[in-house]
Amino acid sequence: MCGIIGYIGKKQAAPILIESLRKLEYRGYDSSGIGVISSADGKIVFRKNKGKINALCNLLKFSPLPKTTCGVSHTRWATHGAPNRINSHPHVDESGQFLVVHNGIIENYEVLKDSLIKKGHKFLSQTDTEVVPHLIQEYYKGDFLEAVKKAISKLKGAFALGIISSNHPDVLIAVRVGSPLIVGLGKDENFIASDVPAILEHTRRIIYLKDEQIAVLTKERVDVFNFDGTKVKPQVHNVEFKVDCVEKQGFAHFMLKEVHEQPQVIQHMINTRIVRNQLKLDGIGLSDKQLKRINNVVIVACGTAYHAGMVGRYAIELLANVPVAVELSSEFRYRKPIISNKSLVIAISQSGETADTLAAVREAKKRGAKILSICNVLGSSLSRESEGVLYTHAGPEIGVASTKAYTAQICMLYLLSLKLSLVHGTIRSGEFKYLVKKLKEIPALYHQILKDKSNIASIAKRSSHFGCFLFLGRNINYPSALEGALKLKEISYIPAEGYAAGEMKHGPIALIDEYRAVVCVATESDIYDKMISNIQEIRSRRGKVIAIATAGDEQIKNHAANVIYVPKTEQLFTPLTVAIPMQLIAYYIAVKRGCDVDQPRNLAKSVTVE
Ligand code: F6R
Repeated sequence: MCGIIGYIGKKQAAPILIESLRKLEYRGYDSSGIGVISSADGKIVFRKNKGKINALCNLLKFSPLPKTTCGVSHTRWATHGAPNRINSHPHVDESGQFLVVHNGIIENYEVLKDSLIKKGHKFLSQTDTEVVPHLIQEYYKGDFLEAVKKAISKLKGAFALGIISSNHPDVLIAVRVGSPLIVGLGKDENFIASDVPAILEHTRRIIYLKDEQIAVLTKERVDVFNFDGTKVKPQVHNVEFKVDCVEKQGFAHFMLKEVHEQPQVIQHMINTRIVRNQLKLDGIGLSDKQLKRINNVVIVACGTAYHAGMVGRYAIELLANVPVAVELSSEFRYRKPIISNKSLVIAISQSGETADTLAAVREAKKRGAKILSICNVLGSSLSRESEGVLYTHAGPEIGVASTKAYTAQICMLYLLSLKLSLVHGTIRSGEFKYLVKKLKEIPALYHQILKDKSNIASIAKRSSHFGCFLFLGRNINYPSALEGALKLKEISYIPAEGYAAGEMKHGPIALIDEYRAVVCVATESDIYDKMISNIQEIRSRRGKVIAIATAGDEQIKNHAANVIYVPKTEQLFTPLTVAIPMQLIAYYIAVKRGCDVDQPRNLAKSVTVE
């Protein structure tokens, strides 16, 4: 969602603030802005505009900023108030002394705004954010930090803030409650950012601010305080990402690059997590004895991560014989879930910052559950709130549509199911070895699928005119169908539904006619024949079938004009192989339709508000 950058140092701040902001574009936004302190007269100057960062840059050409070595910039994803210039960040108080950029939601802003209006403050925007500079101004008696502390003590909700003041041109203040914010340490310069990739070019020394912490940055130093005023000695991390992780490296889009990274992501996971045929789930945070005590698993996640969780349910129930419920975090948090101290709650999240998943985890903890998270982003809020973390180490995922994070989550869930099956004594050693061997083959199978992607591209392009898609799968590939539909709708905006194929006759069959395309997962399985029957039902209603089948299956050609083959693997692991054609179908259709694949409209990469 919104992105924040802040700089204080010796260099010209504006180009750094703009270029770093571009690296946060992937988070999703609809307007952007920049606010600085003029080196000449110490005054606050800001510019903002609706639309992409280039629209802001165009504005800056006509209305340039003064020379400056301190400022903040922002990409906004509208929550309160339409995406227009007035509502864009930064926001300032009417005296122009305090300027704020904000990520998150201030839940009690209406009450605060009313009371500030009664005191004579004038507001320009419809945002929740605008109360913050006004509040700071209200409390300001010469001490910037004190005024910020008093102001934030009045705020409810989740927020990350970057704040500058014309009264204190050598200071930048950052605040974190719920929404992610990091501090980057440089030489004679310091940074704040919503995410590490944005400032990687400048520094790799990172402080992950914790909730309820304030950082006070000057060009020479950074002091971190808890909200109660105590000074803390923050841990400084040396981040190892390569800068090329956040570049396209010759691919047309980040999404396509990330699809192609899947062989190496899975290979890396296998190499590091299976050593001499032993599982090495470092970070799991639970002893074998604790895992053995578990009598049920609840998986909480949103979107694509939820689909990975559904695959996990099949795997855990099949291998470890432990009952599993998979819950959408946003629903779970408002139910009275039945959870005990023998429950294991697995939270799955690429970003580790998804507000609903964090809330679900907090709810489960209150009920005594142990939390194990499967997460991609190091040091994220979720990882800090879990007893154990299994990092997927898929590298930064920049495309808004999740691809490599999804298959990495699934692969981690397979490893976890194997672990649970060993601990619960539900797997024989021969079967364990066989499954490990089959899992190790996946990266090579991925290379084969990607080598043959031109067939997927041409089927996708030929199908890009369809106004509606249905995705059908059964059993462990029912989640694959849901994920295929999600990928297509989010990047091509074509209405797409994912269904368990057995449900087709209970409603969705009414949709089928010559104007619908139906993607059917028909890989080799115990229920292959049932899927073929479903395909026949679609064809007899003139629906266009695209079948994803196992290499060597000639019979499928009698049923579907368009076939995408994936190499044979163990039935349990087919969601991994099927994922790539699903991603590529969506990708090529979206490209053909001229859509913004990496930054689809209205979407945000990490959904840090409810
Ligand atoms: C879809 C997608 C979203 C995310 C969801 C959860 O391509 O990316 O559905 O999967 O917003 O995000 P994380 O995994 O960061 O919790």
